[in-house]
Amino acid sequence: MKFFIDTADLGEIREALSWGCLDGVTTNPSLYARTGGRLDDFEAHMVKIAQLCEGLPVSAESQAKDVEGMVADGRRLSALAPNIVVKLPVCEAGLAATHRLASEGVRVNVTLVFSAPQALLAASAGARYVSPFVGRFDDVGEDGVDRLADVVACIGNYDWGGRNVDGRVEVITASVRTPSHVTQAALLGADIATVPLAALRRCVRHPLTDQGMASFDADWVKVVAAQ
Ligand code: E4P
Repeated sequence: MKFFIDTADLGEIREALSWGCLDGVTTNPSLYARTGGRLDDFEAHMVKIAQLCEGLPVSAESQAKDVEGMVADGRRLSALAPNIVVKLPVCEAGLAATHRLASEGVRVNVTLVFSAPQALLAASAGARYVSPFVGRFDDVGEDGVDRLADVVACIGNYDWGGRNVDGRVEVITASVRTPSHVTQAALLGADIATVPLAALRRCVRHPLTDQGMASFDADWVKVVAAQ
């Protein structure tokens, strides 16, 4: 399974890139707002992320509400850099815009997916990526991993050749909150997990690892002292 980072913060992206295990970036309007970004600077900021992550897919989301607006945003955002993927919500207008943009060779990440039928329709319309949310189910006491399992199984059942420029659809596990979400996504066969930096750090760290490093340090002190 590949790791994307779920952030619009350049510093967080640089940190995750330095670990050598990053395969892409997803942003959304809330994540951009969290950087304190202004509307006028949005596209320039997406270009900065795309340049920082040259060759890796970077999802930039349209906030348009109608098909023509989504298509216009998609054309403009995808023209900013070759690795920018346009993000659109799963809805009637989003499907229509995805279909139009996919037919023009634009890669689309269909987001805010909460069911297998939504994912299947998005893939049929030409989505290059579908983003089923896990954590928001947990936030309301439902099992997001079960819903993710439905999406992974359904998408994997079909050959999506010809539907989009790459002839394949990848499942991006989104709304990831915990290392367990990452483990479950990998076990289910999701292609990608997009993870906020805080959750990535929780994936890296473990109390027994910390204890082991401390005990090795303490014993190494003895080795050095015996010199
Ligand atoms: C994908 O990029 C989604 O926008 C993101 O993972 C949503 O996460 P949240 O549910 O924590 O807002």
